Amino acid sequence: MRVGILTGGGDCPGLNAVIRAVVRKGEVVHQDQFVGFRDGWRGVIDGLTMPLDVEACRGILPRGGTIIGSSRTNPYKVDGGPQRCRATLAELEVDALVAIGGEDTLGVARRLFEEGVAVVGVPKTIDNDLSATEVTFGFHTAVQICVDAIDRLHTTAESHDRVIVCEVMGRHAGWIATYAGIAGGAAEVLVPEDPFDIEVVCENLRRRHAKGHYASVVVVAEGATPREGTLSVASGEVDAFGHARLGGIGNALAQEIEKRTGFETRATILGHIQRGGTPTAFDRVLATRFGVAAIDCVHDGAFGQMVALQAGQIVRVPLSAAVNELKTVDPALVAVAEVFYG
Ligand code: F6P
Repeated sequence: MRVGILTGGGDCPGLNAVIRAVVRKGEVVHQDQFVGFRDGWRGVIDGLTMPLDVEACRGILPRGGTIIGSSRTNPYKVDGGPQRCRATLAELEVDALVAIGGEDTLGVARRLFEEGVAVVGVPKTIDNDLSATEVTFGFHTAVQICVDAIDRLHTTAESHDRVIVCEVMGRHAGWIATYAGIAGGAAEVLVPEDPFDIEVVCENLRRRHAKGHYASVVVVAEGATPREGTLSVASGEVDAFGHARLGGIGNALAQEIEKRTGFETRATILGHIQRGGTPTAFDRVLATRFGVAAIDCVHDGAFGQMVALQAGQIVRVPLSAAVNELKTVDPALVAVAEVFYG
């Protein structure tokens, strides 16, 4: 078969491991040929490709990012986008497409499947907010990067008797913040699912410092919002899928904490460091399992499906199950983080 591969949305450690696994099993076991579509759906719309074979995938397992590029292009926002996608696939004689992406990329995959395109999905996001899979690759790596940073922030915060606010990614779900906060010993974890009361946050910090603790690290997800709606955080810009480009809650929160408590406070925004670099061993294994399972789907004709991790096993679920609902943080996990507040 001739199989196309694309990676869409924000990049994520482990994307290359998926590509390598799809190509390896496809070429060696099924004698498939591959077409790498450049920069997500943009490559399919515009016919931008690069050759992909086992040779081209050598050495990419530990490499961050994606060798075929990514973008947030939405074909349904481009004039004639879906028709151009179908025309490219027909012209290049691509029999099936493996789309590796998050909610947005897989949402497009689902619509194209409903319009007749043979597509299989692989879930990807560092945010871990996709339904139908227990975890996505990239999440574990992002959490580890945050925990390494939080460990370092603790020692400088202690030396200067400061509060440090650490802003991490997660615009709709606070999985990274909650995991990193628990693993990093955060004094407070603030997530988008639960708008925070700034006075409660400050009171917890006062209580903690009164007990003789010299320092606190507050972990805040970029999408966290204050209950009263007093701190403005969105930049006002939106991407092709309508998501607000965020940035600012960390600084706004640090200023507010210092103003209300009198504790010297600093903010650190981890940003894209969380998405860059080599995947952890866990993410390499998960990405490889997903890749192998995706090419199996192609050869079983299981189109409109996404591979997923459930109870430790790789399963197939309809693409609609993944994109219909956002997977928000389990309140039981937030309750674990809360034990350590104050
Ligand atoms: O969707 C993954 C993600 O890393 C989010 O956590 C973050 O809000 C967003 O991407 C950042 O997007 P961009 O790289 O386009 O600034």
